[in-house]
Amino acid sequence: MEVLGIDFGGSGIKGAIVDIKTGELVTERHRIETPQPATPEAVSEIMAELIQHFDWKGKVGIGVPAVVKNGVVLTAANIDKSWIGQTINKQLSEKTGCEVECINDADAAGIAEIHFGAGAKVKGMVFLLTVGTGIGTVIFIDKHLVPNLELGHLEFKKKSIELYAADSVRKRKDLSWKEWGKRFNKALAYYEKMFNPNLFIVGGGVSKKMEKFQDQIDLDTPVVPAEMENNAGIIGAALNLVYK
Ligand code: BGC
Repeated sequence: MEVLGIDFGGSGIKGAIVDIKTGELVTERHRIETPQPATPEAVSEIMAELIQHFDWKGKVGIGVPAVVKNGVVLTAANIDKSWIGQTINKQLSEKTGCEVECINDADAAGIAEIHFGAGAKVKGMVFLLTVGTGIGTVIFIDKHLVPNLELGHLEFKKKSIELYAADSVRKRKDLSWKEWGKRFNKALAYYEKMFNPNLFIVGGGVSKKMEKFQDQIDLDTPVVPAEMENNAGIIGAALNLVYK
């Protein structure tokens, strides 16, 4: 079975058709710039455009950078505030004529990695982060998802962790990889102290750049990049329709 997976990110909205038996992309991915402001109207247009691009009539799974509970968006840290309260599954299904199901983007990336990627053989607690515009977090315990954990917003050094160590902070402050890596290590050390996971998986854009900051990582817990790199979000959003 195939599902169209879409990852709604701060800078790009990316989609591809996913084989949910193998967790592999069966098409090239297609990326459209995230509209600014990323309002529900503007983003829904892009979702419809992506569905049209793939000439898709089947099920659609979407990872969104927000808490999504019972089909309703509850937060909007890095997207337009008007998302809060939107009945996103219902609205996107009506707009596109496809069956659409949305999930938090970090939860999506985690589902992909825990079933087919870096977490597939790990017992106990796996802690995945998606590091991009914000910091998304997800914890699995023996492959069971704990949904909608917003640990990127825990307070650290008097601000939220994501305002200290997201990749957007590196870019905005023009930090070197070494400087940023030190910050990221501090954030991970904080999570390590609080949660004691068996493994950290680093997803999002920086997962492809691990060699640039690996030297700064100094923890007892192993830290590995997402095996599906930045495609984990697309794949997991699609898998969510079957691995609930
Ligand atoms: C949001 C999370 C999201 C993360 C990564 C955070 O700002 O609150 O819901 O998972 O960014 O996109």
